Amino acid sequence: MCGIVGAIAQRDVAPILLDSLKRLEYRGYDSAGMAVLHPENLTIQRIRTLGKVSQLAQAMTTQSSSGYVGIAHTRWATHGKPSEANAHPHLSSDDIALVHNGIIENYANIRDQLISLGYGFASETDTEVAAHTIHKYLDKNDLLHAVYHATKELQGAYALGILSRKFPNQLIAVRRGSPLVIGLGTNEFFIASDTMALLPVAQKFIFLEEGDIASVSRNGVEIYDKELQLVERPIHTIDLKQDIIDRGEYRHYMEKEIFEQPQAISDTLEGRIANEKLLEQSFGVNASELFDKIKRVHIVACGTSYHAGLVGQYWIESLAKIPCTVNVASEYRYRNTVVESDTLFVTLSQSGETADTLAALRKAKTLNYLATLGICNVAESSLVRESELVFMTRAGIEIGVASTKAFTTQLISLILLSIALARRHGLTTTEENQIVHALQHLPKTLEQALTSAEAIKQLACRFADKEHALFLGRGIEYPIAMEGALKLKEISYIHAEAYPAGELKHGPLALVDKNMPVVAVAPKDELLEKLQSNLSEVQARGGELIIFAEKNTHLADTKESTVIYLPEIHTLLAPILYTIPLQLLAYHVAVIKGTDVDQPRNLAKSVTVE
Ligand code: M6R
Repeated sequence: MCGIVGAIAQRDVAPILLDSLKRLEYRGYDSAGMAVLHPENLTIQRIRTLGKVSQLAQAMTTQSSSGYVGIAHTRWATHGKPSEANAHPHLSSDDIALVHNGIIENYANIRDQLISLGYGFASETDTEVAAHTIHKYLDKNDLLHAVYHATKELQGAYALGILSRKFPNQLIAVRRGSPLVIGLGTNEFFIASDTMALLPVAQKFIFLEEGDIASVSRNGVEIYDKELQLVERPIHTIDLKQDIIDRGEYRHYMEKEIFEQPQAISDTLEGRIANEKLLEQSFGVNASELFDKIKRVHIVACGTSYHAGLVGQYWIESLAKIPCTVNVASEYRYRNTVVESDTLFVTLSQSGETADTLAALRKAKTLNYLATLGICNVAESSLVRESELVFMTRAGIEIGVASTKAFTTQLISLILLSIALARRHGLTTTEENQIVHALQHLPKTLEQALTSAEAIKQLACRFADKEHALFLGRGIEYPIAMEGALKLKEISYIHAEAYPAGELKHGPLALVDKNMPVVAVAPKDELLEKLQSNLSEVQARGGELIIFAEKNTHLADTKESTVIYLPEIHTLLAPILYTIPLQLLAYHVAVIKGTDVDQPRNLAKSVTVE
């Protein structure tokens, strides 16, 4: 999950590439680099730096790099540590420069063969074999054919951007399992991992399809399929606005995105509910017909999206009363799966480009599922294009690596799906009206919950010197506790674990002492009393409790526990509401600890590698 960009124009492309790289940094940020063809002597000028794109920008102030054709890259290391030597672009014999996203699985074998042919290696990456393999074919072929022959040898899921000083008016782009778009400007053309990278320079885009190779020159773009047949691909116009990716008054994107949740939820509900009822066509024109047949649901996703799936499981089983299973995509894709008849396969993904989730979807399409439904936040993503039914969350662009508004809007899509299925399995109109009514009020309730930010900020100080934390929930709040723990570890680097509170006494209680803060998600539901007993067990062991609860419960501050009150809510929607304080807690702890909130170490926003 690296970011690729390339440009061919009649003006200096270096500043364009640098600007695009900044927008791609969410894909990886351990090193960055750029290669531009010198306009006169056509040598490849390459600059690479360890660290973020800002380091590259700094290096470019002292090293010359301008020209009309170039490629650039921001890296998330898979093979070889983050270092300047492993940063892209990689060169072969100073003739070829190449940027790569993804993994070349058979690189070790190819590397041995290339060494026997006399090629030397300057990095520990899998990428360098791609540059040399193309070079190997360049003697007897033009650049397009050399790339074509090379990609026949390179196995894995990847995207490539290539330039050659022997073909100075050409850029080649390859899509083999990792996303790549072509941006069409006026007499200038671009390649990039996503459309957002090209925000100021292109509004028209071609999305390369699986196996496509594009030859891009100043005169236009030619696209070839995997058999090297010239093909036409549709042009999409996307008018992205700069202000949607500005941070505004907020210190971090994550903070902005937490506060955008009431609006994101309103947007996701708009046109999907009316007269206190669900409009189920929002899942696609054939959705109603398919929903009639569904007897079970199988949800597959990764990370935060997986947690949303777990909440969905409770909703589907309690409202629709049909079985629902949930799997982590990286596990699902490699296991033997028994698919019972009339099962709906659901994938959840903010980005729609998560490699494991896409692989799971592709596997599911070969099995006996009734249909596939993709719930996604990026309309142009592979997941959306490859799913039969699609439900778009309308969270807006999410830039912080820690997913926030994408999660709560995924929950909205899942409660709507649960209603659609429950209608066919005994949910009365009155019950549906009550849930939809509560959904309509949810944005206001979340706004109220966000006013607890200041109190949570105070609370966050108590975590600054802690190394571990426990998160507890019961029933449908257990996945919310899991999400709270993931948020905390992801951005504050504090080790956090979530447990169903009833499990405490089976082991983790041994960890509880004054150095182990225990965070409890305690809405007013039928499990509250049971949870309270579990919390007493923590207090009895001297654990410091932080409880998020409704005002009209018996929970109150004591010497060992702090209670933060949240507004009243329909029990079914409590998971959405109780997510908010946990996000705020993680955010403020990270700010106090001084970590890189929006780009935490070792992570990337879009995980396009296995
Ligand atoms: O784009 P996706 O929803 O498929 O991403 C899945 C996970 O990589 C993602 O949710 C990850 O866990 C987040 N960084 C968590 O905040």
